[in-house]
Amino acid sequence: MPQSKYAIEAKGLRKSYGKNEVLKGISLKVERGTMLALLGPNGAGKTTTVRILSTLLGFDKGSVTVENYDVVKDADSVRGVIGLTGQSAAVDELLTGRENLEMMGRLYHLTKASAKERAQELLEDFDLVDAANRPAKTYSGGMRRRLDLAVSLIATPPVIFLDEPTTGLDPRSRIAMWTIIENLKKNGTTILLTTQYLEEADQLADRIVVIDGGKVIAEGTAKDLKSKVGKDRLELTFEGAKDYKKALEVVDGKTLDQSSEDLAITMTINDINKDVSKVLADLASAKIRVSSMAVHKPTLDDVFLSLTGKVKKKEEQ
Ligand SMILES: Nc1ncnc2c1ncn2[C@@H]1O[C@H](COP(=O)(O)OP(=O)(O)OP(=O)(O)O)[C@@H](O)[C@H]1O
Ligand SMILES: [Mg+2]
Repeated sequence: MPQSKYAIEAKGLRKSYGKNEVLKGISLKVERGTMLALLGPNGAGKTTTVRILSTLLGFDKGSVTVENYDVVKDADSVRGVIGLTGQSAAVDELLTGRENLEMMGRLYHLTKASAKERAQELLEDFDLVDAANRPAKTYSGGMRRRLDLAVSLIATPPVIFLDEPTTGLDPRSRIAMWTIIENLKKNGTTILLTTQYLEEADQLADRIVVIDGGKVIAEGTAKDLKSKVGKDRLELTFEGAKDYKKALEVVDGKTLDQSSEDLAITMTINDINKDVSKVLADLASAKIRVSSMAVHKPTLDDVFLSLTGKVKKKEEQ
């Protein structure tokens, strides 16, 4: 059979729990050696999708292949080519980090010697050497996530599913995890990652599929999505009501939002280098005192608000 250029292909996936249809026809494709981020709010259907793609959960309609194997007819072959780290991963709390890795290696039919060797490699890669001989239950959240990921990589699978690998991590551990994930990508692993963070998808993924309420509501590169969401925003606050009122005259109807209570004005900017200094210069020449300013990039909230049509003010022109 000719190899498709897609390592993962899902078509029209539907899944109900009782009367509650939680996936309403999800289709997605991931090109071999690339990373797709599945982005969505709580309850969107991310974990459900990942569990289906990784053979852990059945579905009602549609089809899925992973490395050309059908997840229903050929589930064992699919399991042989994937690694999975989930929101509830397969780490044994009572075993040490090293024992968890060696045990998983044995489950994947590595010899005792190669399981040991592979465990040591992964402990080093994931900065867990110092904690290797402590039970997993004593690990911090960040160490625990790194162990989850290490365990899923014991057999160097060509396709890996990462379900919210960085949720709940502190910024430093999140960045460490990103480096690990980027290295996987460099090695040619196909990755499907779920996340609630636009920034994470932006940093790591080649393509993004946004789901909400069990449906795909947008897809494309991070750049595509951001341009859909809207532009950067400049937020200015003023020292007094007088400054605020004068500023409204100076910017002359170009505000996106204004609050006389907070003495704040928000406006969209097209070019951060030109527009911000222009606005500040105009305000300064009118002798208006600004007490604070901030530039906001589109956030995940903006993406959802805008994509689901619930946005109050139109940001994109
Ligand atoms: N076993 C189950 N029985 C009934 N409903 C379920 C079950 N598992 C998930 N659901 C429902 O399916 C919907 C999608 O859940 P899912 O866990 O896929 O969302 P998610 O996008 O992963 O959310 P989160 O960001 O919170 O992890 C939710 O409404 C959830 O309540
Ligand atoms: Mg989930």
